[in-house]
Amino acid sequence: MAMPEKMQAVVYGGPGVKSLKTVATPKVLQPTDAIVKIVKTTICGTDLHILKGDVPAVTKERILGHEGVGIVEQVGSGVTRFKKGDRVLLSCVSACGKCDYCKKQLYSHCEDGGWILGHLIDGTQAEYVRTPHADNSLYHIPDGTDEEALVMLSDILPTGFEIGVLYGAVQPGDTVAIIGAGPIGMAALLTAQFFSPARLIMVDVDDSRLAMAKTFGATDTINSATQDAVAELMAMTKDGIDVVMEAVGIAATFDICQNVVRPGGHIANIGVHGTSVDLQLQELWIKNITLTTGLVNTNTHPFTHKSAQ
Ligand SMILES: NC(=O)c1ccc[n+]([C@@H]2O[C@H](COP(=O)([O-])OP(=O)(O)OC[C@H]3O[C@@H](n4cnc5c(N)ncnc54)[C@H](O)[C@@H]3O)[C@@H](O)[C@H]2O)c1
Ligand SMILES: [Zn+2]
Ligand SMILES: [Zn+2]
Repeated sequence: MAMPEKMQAVVYGGPGVKSLKTVATPKVLQPTDAIVKIVKTTICGTDLHILKGDVPAVTKERILGHEGVGIVEQVGSGVTRFKKGDRVLLSCVSACGKCDYCKKQLYSHCEDGGWILGHLIDGTQAEYVRTPHADNSLYHIPDGTDEEALVMLSDILPTGFEIGVLYGAVQPGDTVAIIGAGPIGMAALLTAQFFSPARLIMVDVDDSRLAMAKTFGATDTINSATQDAVAELMAMTKDGIDVVMEAVGIAATFDICQNVVRPGGHIANIGVHGTSVDLQLQELWIKNITLTTGLVNTNTHPFTHKSAQ
């Protein structure tokens, strides 16, 4: 069956404005493109930041979304690894596979890609999406895989793992604190357990998310709306936290991180920030800490895919 001329999509209309609209169905523009019919998609915390106006590169009329599972509908003449009918996972990051950044597996900075879906080009919260560099940006889905779980591999699970756990360099026996128990914080919570930390403390303002975190392996939880998170975290430890991850994207939660990091510890910032934070360098310089930031690369896909099965 041919693709329809028009489709439904979630369209950004400026800060605070989104609507379901009828728009033109995407077409193959480059030989390396594929058109994918979306079966499952999700809303990321980053979409919420876009809607708050924190990501001004997103312009009005942009179709949102950068996560999804679908079925290949059309491929350009240069696509060799996929054909119509293939079931695929979309990476939130498009990678040409050839530029200097791609050669270093820094796919998020690909010179002809990176995080562009639902950001600089139309995204996945639609019936169809154009995926550039399909050979390097789509992944085959084995038969019988739970597609609802797999959609977490587009962005959420790799972000928590790469930017939280690997950049934070979680070690066996560490005390880890994760500020923000949304999907990203939960992904960091799950994947930190690959490295056997001794303690995994989750901080959020929502009790139901904290209760869920307990079922995912959190050893302790702190509700920072009703408790002083810095005082609690310091009281729980001798001299602070080995690895503290920021998974909200606001100054107040970054502030918790810089106040509890232990000498020699790591702050792994995962959150997307729309405003500046006040870096307390006069306190931190003497602590031999490591501060990392980053946009997910999805370079750990072969590993996260296996671990999700
Ligand atoms: N670096 C990357 O590549 C990358 C990729 C994806 C998402 N992100 C970012 O990661 C962050 C988390 O994403 P998500 O999808 O889990 O978002 P989310 O909005 O679903 O979850 C955020 C959580 O933070 C909690 N929270 C809000 N204010 C708080 C406060 N003051 N103190 C403690 N907790 C608070 C909320 O209750 C919620 O549970 C966002 O900033 C998102 O943009 C970054
Ligand atoms: Zn995302
Ligand atoms: Zn590239």
